[in-house]
Formats: sequence, C-alpha cells, structure tokens
Amino acid sequence: MSKKVLITRIIPLLAKEMLTGAGFEVSVWEGAGPMTQPELINRCKEVNALLSLGADKLDKTFFSTCSHLDIIAQFAVGYDNIDVPEATKLGIPVGNTPDVLSEATADVAFGLMIAVSRKMFFMHKSILQGEWKQFEPLKNLGQQLTGKTLGIFGLGRIGMVMAQRCVGAYGMELIYHNRNRNMEAEQKFNARYVSFADLLAQSDVLSLHSVLSSETKGMFNLELFRQMKPTSIFINTARGDIHIEADLVKALQDGLIWGAGLDVTNPEPMKPDSPLLNMPNVAVLPHIGSATIEARNGMARLAAENIIEFYQSGKVPNCVNPEVLD
Ligand code: DGY
Repeated sequence: MSKKVLITRIIPLLAKEMLTGAGFEVSVWEGAGPMTQPELINRCKEVNALLSLGADKLDKTFFSTCSHLDIIAQFAVGYDNIDVPEATKLGIPVGNTPDVLSEATADVAFGLMIAVSRKMFFMHKSILQGEWKQFEPLKNLGQQLTGKTLGIFGLGRIGMVMAQRCVGAYGMELIYHNRNRNMEAEQKFNARYVSFADLLAQSDVLSLHSVLSSETKGMFNLELFRQMKPTSIFINTARGDIHIEADLVKALQDGLIWGAGLDVTNPEPMKPDSPLLNMPNVAVLPHIGSATIEARNGMARLAAENIIEFYQSGKVPNCVNPEVLD
C-alpha cells in the first residue's frame, strides 16, 4: 500500500510531482491560509508523512495525537514551529530545506540595509503623498555604507552570503558573534570573532541570522539597543520573535539606534498602524526572504527528497534531529 503524505499549503508543484512519481499518495490543503491546529491534527491522522510549513503549530498537543507520523519534512530552513525534542522522543525525523534559500534571504537583508541607509521606502512614500517639491540640499540625508562595520549575529549559511555581498560591494569590515567560531568566514572575509558586547558596541550594521530558540527569543530588547551605536542600523531577516518590537520602536524614537530593516516582525503580519511603517529610517517587508522562484522550487525539491529518501533508504538528506535515524 502506498504511503500517504499531506502537504499543508499549496507549494511549487514540483514537490507533489516528485512524491507522486515516487509512488506516494499526496493530498494538499488548498485553503487560502494555514489550517487550524485541530484541522491539521485531524488530517494528519490519515497520513504517514507530513510536509509542513512554518505556520503549522507542531507542538506537544499536536504530537500527543500525531505520534504515528513516520517523518516531518518542513518547507523552510527554520523549524521553530516544531517541538523537535518531542519529535525526537517519538523517533520522528524532522527535515528542513537549508542552502537553497540562502542567496534569496541574504538579498533581502542586503536590500533592506541599503534601503534603510538611504531612507528609500519612506522617500518613495513621500512622492506618493505629493511631498516631492524641489531638490533639498540638507534634507533626506542618508548614510554611506563603504568601509563600515557589518556585525553578524549567527554567522551561518545565510550570514555568509550577506557577508559576501557586503564585503564585495562596500569593503565592509566583518565582525560576528556565534556559539562556534566560523573559520571559513575568518579566512574568506577576514571576519573577526568578537564578544556579544563588542558586537553591539562596534557594528555599524547589525544583521541577525540566528535561529529562534529559547535563548534568542526576545533577546534584542531596549537594554541591548542601548548598547548599540546611535548611528547603527539593525536588520532582522531571521525571526521577528528575536527582537521586542515595542523596544525597537522606542530605540528608534529615542535615537538609540539610527535605523531598522525588517523582513520579519512581531507579530506577523505586522499591523498596518505600526509606528515603524511611518519612520523615515525604517524599511519593512512581509517575510519574503525566500520568495524567489528559484528558492521556493529548491525548497519544494528538498522537502520532497527528505520524504522520498527516508522511505527508500532510511536517510533524510537534511535532517535536524539525525540521532533518531541511528
Ligand atoms: C525559512 O525558511 O525559515 C523562511 O523563514 C521561510 O519560512
């Protein structure tokens, strides 16, 4: 009997084609948004494998009913929506989709950095509002990025592409803070490993590329913004829950930092009346980091491969809890 897979949103067709081609019976939730958790749990009862997205809440409640799943393949690199220790306890491998979205996500971080440094989103809006009257010698002044210091918190795959962009385009100095040293970055980009306090104090642009975990949740608060340069730009393309948005607003209002570029917000979606949307030195995007045709097709391919390989060879090419496969 063929194994059944549930895909929890409409994603690039490639995933379904690969899975059906490999003999799986595939169902796709075709609703306009994610399923409610009860709906998800209900549908999971009927399947062997789940191809999930970030909005699916796979917590203890979910696993208490869906412990029968053979594998979960997440259509994302991040998997903070999944209680991985619980999946591990149940022996369920969890796959993700790294690398294929690094270029796309780093492009968004890089683009936000430039947009903030020159107030681009706000200036665009000012034209729409009929406020472009004449050349202004002393107004609308931004900052140049050449030779500035880029600080990366969480220098992994996406951070490496961001570093490459910034070093190549602007000759930026690179400093970083991680759990582990990144020797490749030190060799390739002359990156300097610094303490977290020094990262805050020395970065002209501070770009977050870390995972969301119990340690990083709510980490960037007023106290930390106070330790950054008043001329600095804060970029978050990782997860909105890593910063406290009310504190970010205050930090910008009080001039503790100069600007901010966000592709992830807290909450998501951001409310249209957020004060951030009317600040000159702020640029906000609606979580589009991986939104290129290439990246999304790559994610679909990797997610499908994780399921197919698991059933064919017992291996999950991109597994976040490989210990369950031993
Ligand atoms: C990811 O892959 O984690 C992106 O944020 C898309 O969800």
